[in-house]
Amino acid sequence: MAFVERVFSGVQPTGNLHLGNYLGAIVNFVKMQETHNCIYCVVDMHAITMGIDVWGGPAELARNTREVTAAFIASGIDPNKHIVFNQSQIAGHAELTWIFNCVARIGWLNRMTQFKEKAGKDRENASVGLYDYPVLMAADILLYRATHVPVGEDQKQHLELSRDIAQKFNNDFSDSIRGHGFADGLFFPQPEPLITGPATRVMSLRDGTKKMSKSDASDNSRINLTDDADTIAQKIRKAKTDPEPLPSEEKGLEPRPEADNLVGIYAALAGISKQEVLTQFGGGQFSSFKNALVEVCVAKLAPIASEMKRLVADPGHVDAILADGASRARDLADETMRMTKDIVGFIRSH
Ligand code: TYM
Repeated sequence: MAFVERVFSGVQPTGNLHLGNYLGAIVNFVKMQETHNCIYCVVDMHAITMGIDVWGGPAELARNTREVTAAFIASGIDPNKHIVFNQSQIAGHAELTWIFNCVARIGWLNRMTQFKEKAGKDRENASVGLYDYPVLMAADILLYRATHVPVGEDQKQHLELSRDIAQKFNNDFSDSIRGHGFADGLFFPQPEPLITGPATRVMSLRDGTKKMSKSDASDNSRINLTDDADTIAQKIRKAKTDPEPLPSEEKGLEPRPEADNLVGIYAALAGISKQEVLTQFGGGQFSSFKNALVEVCVAKLAPIASEMKRLVADPGHVDAILADGASRARDLADETMRMTKDIVGFIRSH
């Protein structure tokens, strides 16, 4: 059966959203709206998988959930035409996770590099939720039987796990799936990761070999969506570079991670290719390129920051958007849960 094409993706409400989240994910969320029905989720249940000191406690979680919602809308996501909601409002995410916990294998989860990175050396002390995180992610996507998932590079392995879970569920229950009217035995699609654009992995401004991340101790390593123009300018001017002028060909960026990163950021912000950036700036010094980068960065982010500010000042309005999105998401989720329970053999009252 051909599955109805549907887009799903999520962003965690922990810490500040940064340029990596924006260019690696949110920009593509906005684009996908033109061609697909999209569901964009603020994954508050994922946020609490780290210690409470990391996600900041109840008031901070609620504040961050509204801020991510505001960032979606300020960036151009239309919550009327598409669905925007926070994960914890739909019980199906947790319910389907349980079923998938019994499909996924421990060996699969043991291979997840993000768990190893996040748990660090003290793995015994990591939460069970952090370990199970990728299974909840599979449930997020498959609860809506979504077929396409725009994400940054760092989520690729988690998406592969989602595909494996969908496939094993379909295999394990193939007879039951056929018995419930799916002639080809396929109930869940294998979701396709969409990792596109010139900035699928935005790196730290202080170290071109490290990913730009919310958890980096140095705020100078990232540009936050809420940074003002002066802060953006300062951070870009301080960004690490090397002493060579910019190359004129993309190949010249290969051994130069910091140059590659800044050129990729410019390309993504300006909506052009890296080669086009180099055709314009190749042979020139970093200082003038950085000035141009500040300009395009501020031009793109300043309106988003001010719209975010306006939206978070009215939490009632943001909560109403989430409630409306949740009620539409729930209809889709309930339908999947009903069919999944029938396929698994759970008795339910009709
Ligand atoms: P999160 O909240 O860490 O990041 C949100 C999105 O931003 C992308 N991203 C980056 N892209 C480029 N360069 C970077 N430096 C960078 N840092 C982050 C991430 O790849 C992601 O697309 N597990 C997910 C949230 C999630 C989800 C899902 C995603 C939960 N359920 C279902 C898709 C489908 C996460 O932690 O994203």
